[in-house]
Amino acid sequence: MSHLSIGQHIRSYVLRQGRLSAGQQRAIDQWFPKWGIVFANDKGTLSFNEIFQRTAPTVLEIGFGMGEPTIKIAKTFPDKNFIAIDVHGPGIGNILKLIEQEELTNVRVIRHDAVEVLNHFIPPHSLAGVHIFFPDPWPKARHHKRRLIQKPFIDKLTEYLEEGGYIHLATDWQEYAEQMLDVLSQCDKLKNTTTGYSDRPDYRPLTKFENRGLKLGHGVWDIIFRKESQ
Ligand SMILES: C[S@@+](CC[C@H](N)C(=O)[O-])C[C@H]1O[C@@H](n2cnc3c(N)ncnc32)[C@H](O)[C@@H]1O
Repeated sequence: MSHLSIGQHIRSYVLRQGRLSAGQQRAIDQWFPKWGIVFANDKGTLSFNEIFQRTAPTVLEIGFGMGEPTIKIAKTFPDKNFIAIDVHGPGIGNILKLIEQEELTNVRVIRHDAVEVLNHFIPPHSLAGVHIFFPDPWPKARHHKRRLIQKPFIDKLTEYLEEGGYIHLATDWQEYAEQMLDVLSQCDKLKNTTTGYSDRPDYRPLTKFENRGLKLGHGVWDIIFRKESQ
């Protein structure tokens, strides 16, 4: 375990097995060997230059779901590398299919708990950005401890950012948005890129789900902080 490890942790997800379509399974069998990175906790940290065969800013996405926004963003920024992490089988199949369909070469996929991926696999001070869009809100008070965005996690995440690197969060759950803003504001090494919540940057596409919510008058909150030079 690296020195940045926070050891045993409460999972921020519940693994729902099944419901993997034949197409998603095929995509995993066929394309994971090409675009997937198999997690290992005993092989040291990744070399992004080796994986992507180039030197480029690398953005990590945690919890990409079905992966459509990830793919749109990767198409918008061909000069950046994207490492997309999730644990959800159908989403893994779907994103692999999309990478192939769009002929993208700048996305790699890891199927594992992002907390462990950070602990063992990501070199410190290596990330140009981190995207966490609509993390599970765990609305019940007794489940709040499962929320990903908490001070120890964000402190750790910050250690993996380069100077000037950013963390971009989005949520449609107001009370979680307030917690996110509070947590990031408490991190000495991070600075808000604006006052309070950010406007949605053009690069983050509206999801179908978000569009529907917005029409019903529900809010969405973007939060973008940058790591300050020390
Ligand atoms: C509510 S979904 C949002 C998906 C997507 N970002 C979107 O906007 O549609 C949250 C996703 O985060 C994933 N997730 C939650 N905790 C995770 C963790 N510790 N490591 C990897 N993925 C995680 C879940 O499997 C799920 O796919």
